Amino acid sequence: MTLPAAAAQGHDTLALANDYRARFVPLSPASKPLIVTAMTRLSLESSRRRFFTPRVQLSERELDLLTAVDGVRHYAFGVCGRGVDGAAEGIATAHFVRTAEDSRVAEIALTVIDEFQGQGIGKAMLARLASAALVRGVHRLRALIVPDNAPVLGLLRRYAPGARFTYDGELYTADIPVASLTLALPAAA
Ligand SMILES: CC(C)(COP(=O)(O)OP(=O)(O)OC[C@H]1O[C@@H](n2cnc3c(N)ncnc32)[C@H](O)[C@@H]1OP(=O)(O)O)[C@@H](O)C(=O)NCCC(=O)NCCS
Repeated sequence: MTLPAAAAQGHDTLALANDYRARFVPLSPASKPLIVTAMTRLSLESSRRRFFTPRVQLSERELDLLTAVDGVRHYAFGVCGRGVDGAAEGIATAHFVRTAEDSRVAEIALTVIDEFQGQGIGKAMLARLASAALVRGVHRLRALIVPDNAPVLGLLRRYAPGARFTYDGELYTADIPVASLTLALPAAA
């Protein structure tokens, strides 16, 4: 399956249960208020898995870094929808940042707020990150994973059979050849 080119640019949508339309959107400094609110809806457990220590809020500097997206070194997008009150809400983010030692390798970070987990957003984001990585010359993705993070380990074991895991006594590092992903990658933009 090939998705429209818009998918790779982060402008497509994903239909979830109850006709919820999740939109993939670019991240920019204007996204900060949505991220701040989304953080309040992220459990401490999910927060620990994402930031390696439980966080209830992010500093202004962290928000600056998360939303300083140049599309080359740092590629990122968010996932938004409409809450029950009709207002825009942020429900997920995905990033890759090239490593300093090798620009063909990038570290990824995925976050889906708890009430939207398990609905396919994580794998849709990974597919979009991988597609964007390939057209930018990034061939390997790296993920740092706390050992009890069953969802992301499950995601990679299922859809990244080429991933190799190393353990430093604290975190797993997954080294993922982009070409080995079995997810349908959106068309390159
Ligand atoms: C990890 C995370 C991004 C996954 O996103 P998600 O939207 O919940 O995942 P999906 O619904 O797309 O599931 C994708 C695959 O992951 C695996 N998976 C999902 N939840 C799982 C669980 N609880 N246990 C084991 N495997 C799981 C499954 O293989 C699933 O594929 P399938 O439904 O086709 O079988 C999300 O759980 C999250 O944000 N967690 C908190 C932050 C975090 O851990 N980030 C990762 C740091 S790299």
